[in-house]
Amino acid sequence: MAETKKRVLSGMQTSGRMHLGNYHGAVENWVRLQDEYDCFFFCADLHSLTMFYGDSTDVVPNTLDIATNLLAAGIDPNRSVLFLQSLVHEHCELFTVLSMMTPLGWLERVPTFKEKIVEVETADLHTHGFLGYPVLQTADIILYNAHFVPVGEDQVAHLELARELTRKFHFHHGELFVEPQPLLTQFSRLPGLDGRKMSKSYNNAIYLSDDDETVRKKVMNAVTDPQRQRRTDPGRPEVCNIHQYRKVYAAPERVAEIDADCRAARIGCVDCKKDVCRLMLERLAPLRARREDLAKRPGYVIDVLIEGSRKASAVAADTMRRVRERMKMTIGRNGR
Ligand code: TRP
Ligand code: SF4
Repeated sequence: MAETKKRVLSGMQTSGRMHLGNYHGAVENWVRLQDEYDCFFFCADLHSLTMFYGDSTDVVPNTLDIATNLLAAGIDPNRSVLFLQSLVHEHCELFTVLSMMTPLGWLERVPTFKEKIVEVETADLHTHGFLGYPVLQTADIILYNAHFVPVGEDQVAHLELARELTRKFHFHHGELFVEPQPLLTQFSRLPGLDGRKMSKSYNNAIYLSDDDETVRKKVMNAVTDPQRQRRTDPGRPEVCNIHQYRKVYAAPERVAEIDADCRAARIGCVDCKKDVCRLMLERLAPLRARREDLAKRPGYVIDVLIEGSRKASAVAADTMRRVRERMKMTIGRNGR
């Protein structure tokens, strides 16, 4: 049965702890995809070195935070393969091979490259590794012959590059990989507390590991409609972050009701925020409970990652054996 299912693969960079933007924007969808697809999910720790190459002490703690939250969210290691990128050495091997055939121009015009190189202030991104980021991502995907890659809009250009690069390999060496497609399913967009994209580097994120009090403080201090100075001023829910949050946590009828109340100044921002915060904490409570269960089993999350990486390695090693054969790069037995 499992063999007839199409394969889905996605990864999350271990550049920070998991925040609500990651959870609602990606992970909730990954959990649903497990019903329909043969799923591979992984922590992209090598990718996080593009920013952490000078100090990588946070990579392992971030990896464990993300993996724990993935399990708490409902990624089921009995149905899906959950693994750690750096434990599967074939990612590096295919990355090297693909790098040799990637034209520089393709990489230089990727929008995330042009944007991040100026935006990120914590590390100098004028590096070979950062330029090659989408090449490693291509290796991540095609090693497993993934049909679909659930990603946000910002990653669509990376997927396009992955497809072009796959075609280039096929042009030189013949068909071998599945050409991956982005899977842009419905997901909730959650802005950061200041209205920009939720991100660790903007310091505007709510983390799944934040306790209730921290979440409350963050929500109560969030920016709302900047023109609404007094309780009696009518508000504009369309420019208010808190209202975007409400759309994630409340039923549509309730969203419409608050929309009207805000415009008519029938509700104040303090009460509105308290209500959104209550809904948010209610939604996160089951995750918290499962994280507490996981905390009682020390070593379990690490074991899941190691076991998942063993399963991933079997697939990846088979792909690399075929790549070497196709490129006439075998010198010994068993495709070596
Ligand atoms: N670039 C992705 C992100 O920042 C993470 C990632 C790495 C990824 N390798 C991948 C996503 C392969 C999908 C498939 O979100
Ligand atoms: Fe935003 Fe709610 Fe204040 Fe309206 S009442 S501006 S929706 S926080």
